[in-house]
Amino acid sequence: MKRGWSSILAMAGASVVFLAAVSGRAQDTSGGGSSGPPAVSEGKEIYEQICQACHMADARGGGGAGAQIPALAGNANLKDPKFIITILLKGRGGMPWFTEMLTPAQMAAVATYVRGHFNSYPDPISEADVKAVAASLDGPGKPDCMTCGN
Ligand code: HEC
Repeated sequence: MKRGWSSILAMAGASVVFLAAVSGRAQDTSGGGSSGPPAVSEGKEIYEQICQACHMADARGGGGAGAQIPALAGNANLKDPKFIITILLKGRGGMPWFTEMLTPAQMAAVATYVRGHFNSYPDPISEADVKAVAASLDGPGKPDCMTCGN
């Protein structure tokens, strides 16, 4: 019992360190350096550290203990970039929103990865896309407004 908790806490600590490392890198690369940000590998890392816990490594989702997690692989909802951006910004049902955990650049990277790697929508989502959708919404954590017609 005691052992279980300490390993969970160790994992939580590792995620925090990871996120700090990723944000540091996002800041470095947004300074206009000549080497472009490694958006694909950054998106992959974020997926593996955060999304995979619920959506599974193969993005096929899962069920169990009352929580039904939808597949992200082969998911036609992802065709519209705004769909995944909105979910990352606002959360939905059992999924948290990520505005306090990820920067717009990181949300763009993971959205690009999920759309391109697990689906065949290779057009990248940019930080500006995330900010534009954020500006059209009324802040994080409000009820799902995907059907509000915007
Ligand atoms: C704590 C578990 C959890 C984590 C972590 C999580 N999700 Fe989810 N996700 C869910 C659940 C549950 C749903 C279903 C929500 C609903 O429709 O009620 C969902 C739904 C989604 C959907 C909508 C799928 C559809 O077709 O309806 C997308 C896209 C998505 N998640 C992407 C992500 C990404 C990208 C990440 C990582 C940044 C992530 N999720 C992290 C639990 C999670």
